[in-house]
Amino acid sequence: MVSADFSVNSGAVFTEAIGNDRLDLLTDYPFTRLANLLAPITPRANVAPVLLTVGEPQHTPPAIIEETLRASASGWNKYPPVGGTPEFRAATGDWLTRRYDLPAGLLHADSSILPLSGTREALFMLALLAVPTRKAGRQPAVLMPNPFYAPYEGAAVMAGAEPVFLSATRETGFLPDLDALTPELLERTALFYLCTPANPQGAAATPAYLAKAIALARQYGFVLAVDECYAEIWLDAPPVGALQVAAGLPYADGKPWSNLLVFHSLSKRSSAAGLRSGFVAGDPALIGRFSRLRSYGCAGMPLPILAASTALWQDEAHVEENRAAYRAKFAAAEAELGGRYGYYRPAGGFFLWLEVGNGEEAAKRLWAEGAVRVLPGAYLSRSNPGEPNPGEAFIRVALVQDTDTVAQACASIVRILG
Ligand SMILES: Cc1ncc(COP(=O)(O)O)c(C=O)c1O
Repeated sequence: MVSADFSVNSGAVFTEAIGNDRLDLLTDYPFTRLANLLAPITPRANVAPVLLTVGEPQHTPPAIIEETLRASASGWNKYPPVGGTPEFRAATGDWLTRRYDLPAGLLHADSSILPLSGTREALFMLALLAVPTRKAGRQPAVLMPNPFYAPYEGAAVMAGAEPVFLSATRETGFLPDLDALTPELLERTALFYLCTPANPQGAAATPAYLAKAIALARQYGFVLAVDECYAEIWLDAPPVGALQVAAGLPYADGKPWSNLLVFHSLSKRSSAAGLRSGFVAGDPALIGRFSRLRSYGCAGMPLPILAASTALWQDEAHVEENRAAYRAKFAAAEAELGGRYGYYRPAGGFFLWLEVGNGEEAAKRLWAEGAVRVLPGAYLSRSNPGEPNPGEAFIRVALVQDTDTVAQACASIVRILG
């Protein structure tokens, strides 16, 4: 079985801490923790394992990828430029303008977009760009929703900031409550990661919510990073994007994107996690500085992959097919789960976020009794002092397999967990 959640390679292999002690502030990565949790358990014999842990779509990737890679093979012997190609920037700029209905000409692709070899590494590296030594005379804070995509925390910690986990529960619409942020915290905030549609809960921010977040970033002088990696996996209506909202806000000096960066990926949109392809767009001043930083520390996106990515961003047919496949899977899951475990239909993304009592115990039972592999919610979240861990009672189920497999897995969940 080749799956990212089966590798058990934690920092525990070192007998004593060496090097950067900030790393010791992090736990093992969620999938390493899961592999350790489930390693002692052998699922019942004769049941094929169903992997619903990693957000890695198993749909066949579009044929465009292979065709373009073959046609641009002469680029493999070249070091790619950090800024990618004009064609890539134009295709992603046009896509953003179409998708978010931006006024023609407002987004200057050449100064506002950088290609990324997957968004994970750039979301991580962003903290090195955004976190100063001190902010308002204190240790800088990096805000993130709780639960959250694990690299946000890793980035904050390794950049020397304090990660601040903002509860995103059913009560807050599964997004952080912006009204609860105090001026004391905002003054020392260097970076705020928001994820919409959210992983794992699938909640999408409203225009008013994003407008408020953008206004706070500008008022308090921090970077707002909006992770829109699930923007194209939606059920009923396309979620609004942060650039779209920013374009409608008043702005001065021809600077509509100040303080704002958005991250987009082909991993989910085009079922191409292995291509490692995404981009960041927004504030040209930040993009310029990011480009300088990335010149020191990143591999550029190889030219054949830039060509394949360009073609993918120009094509919508395969994305519509993908969306139809996810709709069918949610319908199948909904039919099997019948409202159990607080099931709700998310605005976007491809996860079920199910309240099962104790997520770790549920994950163990599902693996032992049904060979169904899911992620305990607590591995995606942290406890704040005096508060329960907002993920503890949940499991995350990634609807990445085909519809029949998803339906059978949901039936197993009901049979095993009751
Ligand atoms: C919320 C979120 N952001 C970003 C990523 C990174 O995607 P990639 O590095 O494949 O672009 C993921 C992947 O699972 C994710 O769930």
